[in-house]
Parts: sequence; structure tokens; C-alpha cells
Amino acid sequence: MNTISENLEPSLHKRKLKKIAVFTSGGDAPGMNAAIRAVTRAALANKLKVVGIRRGYQGMIEGDFIPLKSSDVSGILQLGGTILKTARSEEFRTPEGRFKAYQQLKNAQIDAVVVIGGDGSFTGAQVMSKEYEISFVGIPGTIDNDMYGTDYTIGYETALNTVVEAVDKIRETARSHGRIFFVEVMGREAGLLALTSGIACGAEVILIPESTVQTEELNSFLRKGYKSKESSGIVIVAEGDQSGGAMCIAEEARKAHPDLDVRVSVLGHIQRGGSPAAKDRVNATRMGVAAVDALLDDQHSVMIGIANEKIVLVPFNKAVKLNHVIDTNLIEIHRLLNR
Ligand code: F6P
Repeated sequence: MNTISENLEPSLHKRKLKKIAVFTSGGDAPGMNAAIRAVTRAALANKLKVVGIRRGYQGMIEGDFIPLKSSDVSGILQLGGTILKTARSEEFRTPEGRFKAYQQLKNAQIDAVVVIGGDGSFTGAQVMSKEYEISFVGIPGTIDNDMYGTDYTIGYETALNTVVEAVDKIRETARSHGRIFFVEVMGREAGLLALTSGIACGAEVILIPESTVQTEELNSFLRKGYKSKESSGIVIVAEGDQSGGAMCIAEEARKAHPDLDVRVSVLGHIQRGGSPAAKDRVNATRMGVAAVDALLDDQHSVMIGIANEKIVLVPFNKAVKLNHVIDTNLIEIHRLLNR
């Protein structure tokens, strides 16, 4: 992997920043609060003032800022969602919107900003930092785990556990009734959550946008293995699968195999909620501390990542432009066990 700095752990030399801001942007993800807490406390430990920006870039435009003290981030580590709230801002996409946002940061004497979000959020930061003298460092927060340059994004572990718990329950009713369940998992453009949850649940078929081979597997699964009314099975469908999502695929299956008892379950936003898993808390904490450290080391326009369990810095232009490539071994493993 190409990173500008590998194996970076918090260093001790600190530059003279005075006030930083932190905010969450795009889809929320469990563990974002742990990151807010870590950024706040690491900054305070380095004698920086900290401001929380509420409601993402829209709040930046409107100057919706709150000072953050250590006690303000107490008791939030275990909470899902984001205490700073989040939003997707159309106004920030315009030069006028970004000018307003810059004015607000300047008036509040904010020197640098930590943005917690996905690629859309980092693209916004990249554009603004080219137009104005403001440093951004990013922390990847999305349940999709689809960012280039990092093995983990905050929220993925929790969402994975949520999906597994839900599908295990669906499996019980599927077995009892001899039904085929098409379960739709989030991931508009990314199938990793579907793939790994499918493996963890022993799903018979997994359909993801990054691969088309499984469509044939679905057909043979429906044709061969499940003729008996007593049989049951789980087909995991990533939301963004090109075949049209679980509803469409199930409809096709019903038409082609009227003898099958088919049901659909769309897990939806339940996957974005819940108390963060331990790994998300630990990773969010490490990334939060590393983000402050990066700013103090005069870094900007970089995402904090974790690769091979080590903190790394990934330039925004790589993090947002390059794709997180799905490990095809995972697909092969699943196929091997479900022949
Ligand atoms: O956070 C990423 C994600 O969960 C995608 O997997 C999903 O397609 C999208 O967000 C849905 O977001 P929203 O409902 O907030 O538009």
C-alpha cells in the first residue's frame, strides 16, 4: 500500500497550534463518539482549545460551534451515533458555501480541523483546503469499510456484528418454515460488509456489486439444492448489487421457482446504530489521538488509517480516488465451502 508515512505512532514533538475543530460528516457510524472523545482529550492534553462543529459541513457554514471540554466527552465512548450530529450539505458543494464556512472558521480562530467521515467528507475537505489556508486531517468513519489505504473504518466491526446477529435469527425462522430468505445488507457501492457477514453467517449465496460470478451460483443454488420444501437458505444481497437489490432478486427467484417459499428482509439502518464493538472503540481512539498528533506535526490533507495494525497516513487524494479492493480470496473461500 502507498502511504506517505508507515507505522506512525504518536510522536512527542508538537507544533504551535492553538485551536482545532472536530466534526462528523456523511452517514453516521458506531464509534464516531469514541473518535470525538479521543480527538478532544488528545488536543486538550496538548494545551489546544477544541471546538465541536455540529451537523457536519452545514453546521460549519452556519457557525454551529460548541466548545468541548474533557467533561463534555465523558460517557460517550459506548454510545452509537454522533453527539455532534451529522449531515450531507448541498450548500458546501458551492464556492459560496465554502466561503461562508471558511469565514466561520476564521471568526472562531480555528487553525485546523479533524473531519470524521467517508470519501465524500474528505473530498469536501480537500477542495476547501485548496481554496483556503485551513488544515484538515481525516478519520475514516463508515460502516462500509470501503476506504483505500486503511484496513478498518470506524463502525464496520459493529455493523458486521449487527448483521450477523440479525441473520442468525432469520436463519432460525427460515429453517423452521423451510424458506429461502434474501437478506439485504447496506453498502451502496461496496460489498465488503455483505461478503464478510455472509461468510460469518454461513450464507449459501452472497451477491455483491464487485463481482458477478455469484449470480450463476444463485441460479444453481435455486435450481439444484433447494427443490425440497423442507430446505431453507440465506442469500445475502449487498444493497448496491447490480441485480437490483434483494426485493428485485427475490421477485425473479419467485417467478423462476414458484415452488420455493421466498421471503425478503431488508436490514436497513439498524446496521448503522448500536453501541460500538470493542474494536471500533479501540480503533477510533487510536485514530483520534493520531489525528491530533498529525496536525501537531504539521500534516494536512491526510487520512489516518490502520494498516497491518499500525497507524498510517494516507493522502486524501489517494484515499478518495482509489478504490478499496475486495480481497478475492474471501469470495473464493465462500465458494469453496458452498459448492
Ligand atoms: O454509511 C454508508 C451507508 O450506510 C451506505 O452503505 C448506504 O448505502 C448509505 O450509507 C445510506 O445512507 P443514508 O440512508 O444516510 O442516505
